[in-house]
Amino acid sequence: MTKKMLVAVSMAATMIAACGGDDDGSKSGSSGQGAQASGLSASFQAVCAKCHGDEGRGQGIYPQIPGSKDEASFIAIVRAGRGEMPATNAARFSEADLKADFLWLTTERK
Ligand code: HEC
Repeated sequence: MTKKMLVAVSMAATMIAACGGDDDGSKSGSSGQGAQASGLSASFQAVCAKCHGDEGRGQGIYPQIPGSKDEASFIAIVRAGRGEMPATNAARFSEADLKADFLWLTTERK
């Protein structure tokens, strides 16, 4: 094997490693572990971002959140689920994280 080929092969391996295992964030789901770049919780990134985007702006058929919802309805919708959106219990997304994220979405998002 030439040196060039070796470089190419190791780069490919690195890319495969980097892409592996991001299809189910629930296993590594350590919630409440400090703020992400966006200011939203790790739970939000793990559970909600794939549909609503990493800053909750929505995309395609997924609405921007929290829309016109107040905190109580926001939490109620998350707990109950709606349409295509699955219900999310407190084990996956703590009440405290939900409240902090609601605050960020309504006051900090530019
Ligand atoms: C599988 C994709 C999916 C995931 C994951 C998801 N949502 Fe949704 N969400 C939707 C869809 C689709 C709707 C619109 C449902 C409808 O009105 O029929 C929605 C609606 C909402 C609404 C209501 C918006 C409005 O203006 O009425 C809120 C609030 C919301 N989502 C928050 C969240 C939060 C917080 C999370 C993470 C805990 C989350 N969603 C995870 C797909 C998703």
